Amino acid sequence: DSDQPTKIVVMFGPPGSGKGTQARRLADELGYIQISTGDLLRSAVEAQSTLGLIAKATMEAGGLVSDDIVLALLKERLAEPDTQAGVIFDGYPRTVAQAKALDLLLKRSGQRVGKVVELKVNDDELVERITGRHTCADCGEGYHIRFKRPKLEGVCDVCGGTRFKRRADDTAETVRTRLSEYYEQTLPVLSYYVPKGAVSTLDGADSVDEVFADLMSVVSAKSRVDT
Ligand code: AP5
Repeated sequence: DSDQPTKIVVMFGPPGSGKGTQARRLADELGYIQISTGDLLRSAVEAQSTLGLIAKATMEAGGLVSDDIVLALLKERLAEPDTQAGVIFDGYPRTVAQAKALDLLLKRSGQRVGKVVELKVNDDELVERITGRHTCADCGEGYHIRFKRPKLEGVCDVCGGTRFKRRADDTAETVRTRLSEYYEQTLPVLSYYVPKGAVSTLDGADSVDEVFADLMSVVSAKSRVDT
């Protein structure tokens, strides 16, 4: 039905551009699931699985984990039944090889990427966003030392928890490496999707609500390619 939003959305952009923030909100709004390969990898690291142990050092250094490892985790996640409703990809694909692998996986179930949404934010802002962010250690709610502080200092607004944590790769130095990886390896993925007519670019420097409003209008647009 061409009035329905596309079922497969890729949130695309540099580290800190708001992919995760927007992907979670969009998934809630549409009743889809969010698949973050960063989250899948962090869970594998925490569980000390074989793949996690291999990926850990690369992630902490800000490099890209090998396509094989990421694809193995992704296939496992995509095989779960809740993905049938629709999927918002967050942080995948990050190489052209990953984009091609995704096309093949989706093709098996008669699907394709309907929309790739690029979030543009300048590098200085990205570094500030990432080096200031932290999450509640109990419920995972995200905060930022400048942009989003808890209402009561040191207490999570959502669950009342008082322990906060930061990601191991959120240091100023590692962010610079992650940005270089993005420009060298990931940005070329956009050129793979542009000829398919799937890309929309949004100003990711706007407020979270403004970006979300723009996002809703591009995923609901009838001109998408999967109809
Ligand atoms: P991953 O977990 O994907 O991290 P990332 O791409 O570096 O992105 P981030 O999670 O840092 O940022 P985001 O764009 O989601 O922004 P967020 O919404 O959090 O990857 C981590 C690592 O895993 C990689 O380096 C790599 O090693 C590995 N990896 C993952 N996937 C891989 C793959 N496919 N292949 C190979 N390796 C892979 O927002 C950031 C901050 O800004 C938050 O504090 C937020 O509150 C704030 N914010 C968001 N939007 C706004 C706004 N509009 N205004 C003000 N503040 C905002």
